[in-house]
Amino acid sequence: MTDRPTHPHDERRQQVHREWEECADAWRKWAPHFSASTWPVTHALIGMLDLSPGAAVLDIGCGVGDPSLPIAAQLADGGSVVGIDPAPSMVAACKARAEVLGIDNAEFLVASGENLEGYEAHFDAVVARWSVLFFDNVGTGLAHLRTRLRVGGRIAVSAWAPRRHNPMFAIPARELAEVMEIPRPDRNAPNPLRLSEDGELVAALAEAGFTDIHERQVRLLQFARDPEDYWAFLTGVSMAFRRAFSGLSPADQERVKRGVLRALEPYRSDVGVELPAVARVAAGTRSG
Ligand SMILES: C[S@@+](CC[C@H](N)C(=O)[O-])C[C@H]1O[C@@H](n2cnc3c(N)ncnc32)[C@H](O)[C@@H]1O
Repeated sequence: MTDRPTHPHDERRQQVHREWEECADAWRKWAPHFSASTWPVTHALIGMLDLSPGAAVLDIGCGVGDPSLPIAAQLADGGSVVGIDPAPSMVAACKARAEVLGIDNAEFLVASGENLEGYEAHFDAVVARWSVLFFDNVGTGLAHLRTRLRVGGRIAVSAWAPRRHNPMFAIPARELAEVMEIPRPDRNAPNPLRLSEDGELVAALAEAGFTDIHERQVRLLQFARDPEDYWAFLTGVSMAFRRAFSGLSPADQERVKRGVLRALEPYRSDVGVELPAVARVAAGTRSG
């Protein structure tokens, strides 16, 4: 990782947190939809953690409650979850959803997973579903999370497979590329395709000091009622797409939208639009 002065990094961190805060309402709105389409990843992460019934679990970047809420439900007889996220509205949504679901063994805090100073508990497991990708520095961030595990504790994290395997990234990128320059996914900058190439996720866990590391790919299916519905989902929840799209002229925005809707046509099925997707999940142990 490159070493740059502290100040620009703080600024970049704050900008990322702000951008996620701006997406929070959309994440709340699409939560049932996203939970339903991403259950294979949730199950894979939980399986890799090998949780005992009384486990204490830390969820990093809990968003609007995945996987904090399903894990808390699973551990209702004696276990507990702490979900943290730097976006206050995400945390508020988690609290509201936990209350509605009667989940009382989960607490939610506004915090960054890169800096949990002052929160010294040691957990049996740490989970991070598509969140370490937005750390300013994945290496030091994962090493920091290792210190929040008891010795023998497990971490499980997810990333996406590369763009070429994920039409949900490939389609918008292709259409945006018609009207603007699209930067290549940068291993050193927060973005959803960080750690997506072969070996990157495993290497990041190994560099952070974890052992007994395993990785697997997980297939999932994104769905929507029709292309317009998918467009509403995309423009609501994708922080990266929102950032790029908002800088375009109205004419270019219209062109990108038309292109995306057209590109979704081949994915129409009996139930609406179904997009195959591939994620990576990896887990490791704090062994010392
Ligand atoms: C792609 S969303 C994933 C949310 C949730 N884990 C899920 O899978 O549905 C990424 C989340 O990471 C959070 N995030 C961004 N930077 C973070 C940081 N430094 N520490 C912890 N979470 C962070 C965002 O606020 C956002 O809620």
